[in-house]
Amino acid sequence: MKTTGLRATVRRGFDRAERGLDRLFGADWNPLAQLGPLGWLLFWIVAASGIYLFIFFDTGVTAAYASIEWLTVDHWWHAGLTRSLHRYASDLMVLVMFVHMIREWSFDRYRGKRWFSWITGIPVIWFVYLSGITGYWLVWDKLAQYVATTSTELLDTLGIFGEPIARNFLAPELLSSRFFTLMVFLHIAIPLLLLLLMWVHIQRITDARTSPPRGLTAITLGALVVGSYAIPATSQGAADLATVPQSVGIDWFLLSLFPVIESVPSGVVWAGVAIFTLVLIGMPWMPPRREGGAAEVFLDHCNGCARCVADCPYAAITLVPRTDGLPFTHQVEVNPARCVACGICMGACPSSSPFRRSGDLVTGIDLPDYPLAELRADVIAAAQDLEGKGRVLTLACGHGAAAAPGKGRVVMPCVAMAPPSLIDFIISRGLADGVAVAGCSERDCFNRYGFAWTEARFARERDPFLRRRVPLERVRTIWAGTSERRRLADELGTFAQELAAMPEFENVRPLDEDEETEMKAAAVKRRAGS
Ligand code: HEM
Ligand code: SF4
Ligand code: SF4
Repeated sequence: MKTTGLRATVRRGFDRAERGLDRLFGADWNPLAQLGPLGWLLFWIVAASGIYLFIFFDTGVTAAYASIEWLTVDHWWHAGLTRSLHRYASDLMVLVMFVHMIREWSFDRYRGKRWFSWITGIPVIWFVYLSGITGYWLVWDKLAQYVATTSTELLDTLGIFGEPIARNFLAPELLSSRFFTLMVFLHIAIPLLLLLLMWVHIQRITDARTSPPRGLTAITLGALVVGSYAIPATSQGAADLATVPQSVGIDWFLLSLFPVIESVPSGVVWAGVAIFTLVLIGMPWMPPRREGGAAEVFLDHCNGCARCVADCPYAAITLVPRTDGLPFTHQVEVNPARCVACGICMGACPSSSPFRRSGDLVTGIDLPDYPLAELRADVIAAAQDLEGKGRVLTLACGHGAAAAPGKGRVVMPCVAMAPPSLIDFIISRGLADGVAVAGCSERDCFNRYGFAWTEARFARERDPFLRRRVPLERVRTIWAGTSERRRLADELGTFAQELAAMPEFENVRPLDEDEETEMKAAAVKRRAGS
């Protein structure tokens, strides 16, 4: 699908950066393709280091600072290290969170039925900030004093507290240990709520990846430990409520809003927060919207095998007891609110066979806006474009480098929508000498599992398998993002040359009469369409 303007530019930037990082880390460990899982890893590092720090932390007003100095200076090699880890992992979480958000936006993975992950991500932003800010209070150094007074003054302007809370910080004798205990409580309760929100955030994603691959986990942890020893986190002198701190060093990840809060009227700050949040909330519903109708189940062709349930990336299909009296225990049900119309379920269904006569071409689960029958008709029509030696028919993903219409090309929402039997059909009916399956980037498939399921089906590791009679040298998968059109063209060219050099495929069984009629009609339709 074509994207223009800012989004296309940002997406190209990601594509390029990711290719570069692929070379450095390998596709599996590419951090830009693992931002969600990295966010979770960082949360756990922050939580574990926080629990360890709590063992040494004293919650009294005067004791807090002393206890943190003690662990930073006297026990720098374990407790001091943990403090730095706690701080730097929190900082990194902010960075990872925003890059993840911008990436999901630029890859257009936030709108339509996917609104849920986007909307539930928004409170996560504020809870990450709140967790960090309350953490800075606890050190009770000059920075903590600055953060506590600035944030409570801002809160007081809301007028929702009976007494202004900033009053607690006016003079040393006004800050009670009880209030300090409340601050500690908030720094535990808010991250717990954050965890709950993060859990809600991934509820509409099948098997959401919540831990990065081991290698990337080791690299992240290693980098944090090295960073922590190299530049240990320190305090900025004990807080003194009798004086106003003149200058403090800011944590630009978690506290970057503070200089703004200080210098603009609080009404502007609140308005800014509200506008930012409302714009984010509105984004999934801003035009243009491009999703087709939700998948439909055809019970006459469904035996309840649950392959579609396992393959749907968005937890949109459930197995339910049979209702139509056919001799199977189960059938499936699609939740239209979750279905993004990727068609992966159709590619998974054993009833999706293009070898059936066109009139009977109904499968167990189908897309109303792009049914299997139409896909097959498009394939037959696209084959008309091909001539000479080395004819390549391309099954293309609408989100990758091959998204634009082209000769001998059929574009679909996800290449995993094409059942492997369609490739068998193309080759065994002699529609082309080879089939190129041109998906989007393998680092992070637009539909999460399109890449993985296609590769596994072709490797005969996941049902439905590509049948053994299909010669693998006549099938090529090319995974290329929108900025990789040149590589796609090169690889398609090489594939065509290889096919041209091969002897003719022997087992061709040409189209039968029905298929021939269908082909002619499809070709007419395609010409009219183009
Ligand atoms: C530190 C905070 C966050 C964490 C730990 C996190 C984690 C995750 C994880 C683990 C996934 C699933 C990835 C997968 O398995 O494919 C995900 C998906 C997603 N996240 Fe976040 N996320 C965070 C913040 C946000 C924010 C702030 C937004 C935007 C407002 C956002 C938007 C999304 C979207 C739209 C998806 C869905 C992608 C899809 O449908 O394929 N996330 N996130
Ligand atoms: S089209 Fe099928 S696989 Fe894709 S989201 Fe809808 S139900 Fe799931
Ligand atoms: S894959 Fe097809 S046959 Fe199997 S449960 Fe889904 S719709 Fe039914």
